[in-house]
Amino acid sequence: MVDPASKGLRLVQISDTHLSDRQAFFVDNYLAAMKCINRLSADLVVHTGDLTVNGVARPADIAFAASAHRMSASRMCVLPGNHDVGEEPGFAMMDQPVTIERLKVYRDLIGPDWWAEDFGGWRLLGLNSQILGTGLADEAAQLAWLADQLDRTSGRPVGVFLHKPLFFARQIAAGVPGSIFVPSGTRARLLSRLLRAGVRFVASGHLHKYLDVRFGQTRFIWAPATAYRSGLRVGTGAPMLGYLDYRLFEDGAFTVRAIHPPGMVVRKLSRLKGNSTFLKDAPDFACDGVEAIQAFN
Ligand SMILES: [Fe+2]
Ligand SMILES: [Fe+2]
Repeated sequence: MVDPASKGLRLVQISDTHLSDRQAFFVDNYLAAMKCINRLSADLVVHTGDLTVNGVARPADIAFAASAHRMSASRMCVLPGNHDVGEEPGFAMMDQPVTIERLKVYRDLIGPDWWAEDFGGWRLLGLNSQILGTGLADEAAQLAWLADQLDRTSGRPVGVFLHKPLFFARQIAAGVPGSIFVPSGTRARLLSRLLRAGVRFVASGHLHKYLDVRFGQTRFIWAPATAYRSGLRVGTGAPMLGYLDYRLFEDGAFTVRAIHPPGMVVRKLSRLKGNSTFLKDAPDFACDGVEAIQAFN
């Protein structure tokens, strides 16, 4: 492990890997990213969700993602995205609302969907953004747990991870699509709680764009996807493929770099989808990397 007093602890954030053994559009990109990440000897890898193409309807996608995660040389902490457990009712673009049954599949195959990690002098908190705004009992349980965690940091710097971002830069209160961000009522409460607690960063995925902006004392960081670049013509941020390389220091300072590893392929979603509206309904796609991952396990 790196001496925290000198170089800081190394953390890698990956996101939106969108893996599937059957619709294996992005398996090669995951393997290219992992090859590069495994050379870093990171102290921790955090995955901020959308592990799968269609884990909501196809648990085999989640099981395949779990197999792929075992290729990581570093310990991984994982969070769910809308493609894994579904979206908030009322905002479900793909008619895949999050349910207790879908959460259970994820928990059985991956593990806890929210978590705390003491990491050097830091406290890292992973949140399940998909239950925010649902009214499920788990939503209240997670928010109570978060309040307790924030009350008991004992002065440690805190970093927060979740799948969906909280806002666009310069557009916090504007009417933005609910399926892109955490739903508005919950978003305002969560945002003010995190800002009041002075968390050092809130790091998300989902938009397949890289962004790093400061609001008050807190930096809001969007991770690039490993699967495909965003085609969203809204908001800000740079569409890119890759991952984020963090150094976290004992005094609460940190650095982040966006890395685009060699060998990643830019794929056009419109070509992959064929006549389908959503990627989950696209024709199957073969990739040799599927066998490599299955053979590894
Ligand atoms: Fe995604
Ligand atoms: Fe997503």
